Amino acid sequence: MNIAVFASGTGSTLQTLIEQQEVQGYHIQLMVANRDCPAIARAKGKHIPTLLSTDWDVIDTALHTHNVNLIVLAGFLAIIPSWICEKWDKRIINIHPSLLPKYGGKGMYGIHVQEAVLQANETEAGCTVHYVSADVDGGEIIAQSRIEILPEDTPHTLSQRVQVQEKKLLPRILGELSKQHSK
Ligand code: GAR
Repeated sequence: MNIAVFASGTGSTLQTLIEQQEVQGYHIQLMVANRDCPAIARAKGKHIPTLLSTDWDVIDTALHTHNVNLIVLAGFLAIIPSWICEKWDKRIINIHPSLLPKYGGKGMYGIHVQEAVLQANETEAGCTVHYVSADVDGGEIIAQSRIEILPEDTPHTLSQRVQVQEKKLLPRILGELSKQHSK
């Protein structure tokens, strides 16, 4: 299964996906960024073709050129236009740092999610892998991973602990999807 990884930030998720590709049976064909970010250097360091663009026609063409079967949003902080969601229906997945449908949608990304989770006195946190639809963070849920919130948790510690779960869940789901793909 050929994937494209979309990122906007540090790219620690991309790093995990690079390390796990052989064992999980997928291949990163392309890395797409919507802004200059450290994730680009990580991809370039592993000789993965990169594209820095906000033009969705250009991005769509590159996905086809690189024979991409699945788009993986890994800390990609831009809204996907609805025509791309429709064209790539059930072929875009996202990792989100909350137990959706809670704490999703506009403004809910990165540390802001865990700030909201702690503010609401939740007892558990976690992450979700889901298909991407035009409804932001509202697409069909594929899998979730949960952790208990500790009394001493701050947004930062909770975010770090959720990210550990993200880096286990996302490669595992990619492994499952690549098995289905090769059937
Ligand atoms: C990840 O925690 C991911 O769940 C989050 O951004 C982080 C990316 O980190 N995504 C969202 O909040 C999407 N709404 P990274 O740049 O180190 O991979």
